[in-house]
Amino acid sequence: MIQVRHLTKIFNEGSIDEKKALDDLSLDIRDGDFICMIGANGSGKSTLLKCLSGALICEEGSIVMDGKDITLDSQHKRAHEIGHLFQDPMAGSAPHMSVEENLALAAKNGGWLSFIKEKDRKQFKEKLSALDMGLEDKLSVPVGSLSGGMRQALTLVMNTIRKPKLLLLDEHTAALDPQSAAKVLELTEKAVSDKKLTCLMVTHNMQTALDLGNRLIMMHEGKIVLDLNKEEKEKLTVEDLIAMFRSSTKKDLQNDRMLLL
Ligand SMILES: Nc1ncnc2c1ncn2[C@@H]1O[C@H](COP(=O)(O)OP(=O)(O)OP(=O)(O)O)[C@@H](O)[C@H]1O
Ligand SMILES: [Mg+2]
Repeated sequence: MIQVRHLTKIFNEGSIDEKKALDDLSLDIRDGDFICMIGANGSGKSTLLKCLSGALICEEGSIVMDGKDITLDSQHKRAHEIGHLFQDPMAGSAPHMSVEENLALAAKNGGWLSFIKEKDRKQFKEKLSALDMGLEDKLSVPVGSLSGGMRQALTLVMNTIRKPKLLLLDEHTAALDPQSAAKVLELTEKAVSDKKLTCLMVTHNMQTALDLGNRLIMMHEGKIVLDLNKEEKEKLTVEDLIAMFRSSTKKDLQNDRMLLL
């Protein structure tokens, strides 16, 4: 269980560029929740994920995970329990290291890389075979030479090889070609359901947000303006969602990127 209370994040405070990216935001993430998060550009989605992973520290508010206050814990410390995938497939792995070296580091979760044992190599092969992308035959290939889709699939395995308490996905398929995006999304769904992960996934695709997970959250100007459970969202169409956005924000989404995907 993760309890987010009154989180406020202000960039460039006191300057002409001051921006309140999170505005007194509170949220309970229950164990096993698979939350799809949508919202217009600049509504604070990535900032929330970064505050959860510790990449950003908030000025106000608190984050409690399983009863422990982690508000001021470093990103490095939180990385033991919180996985974070980004839009850029190049962001989550070391390009000059091989596939198996990246996996070995992820399995150990930091520290020095030592000799990879045969039983670990066998486990890596099994996990990669399950992706059905041929990665199991590329254990010694440098990750930098893989395609974006392969690299993002590998990053997903790296982030779930030790079950994280929370998996954060920030538009992790948006930079991929449609086929690879569909594949990585399918692998995501499988990983979340097989391992019973708690997951917060940002997407600009409203249909995906309606189809996946047990909860849908919409952000606007640093606040949560909609929080729907599975039964509520199952009945909705994309058009209903747009209408709900309009009525809760008094704004129009017509020109927003959300509608174009
Ligand atoms: N490091 C930063 N410095 C200054 N302002 C920032 C920084 N990061 C984000 N912002 C601002 O905070 C607001 C929220 O940004 P954020 O990236 O969280 O939005 P988002 O909902 O993820 O948008 P998108 O859908 O475009 O990814 C925006 O106005 C953005 O310009
Ligand atoms: Mg973002």
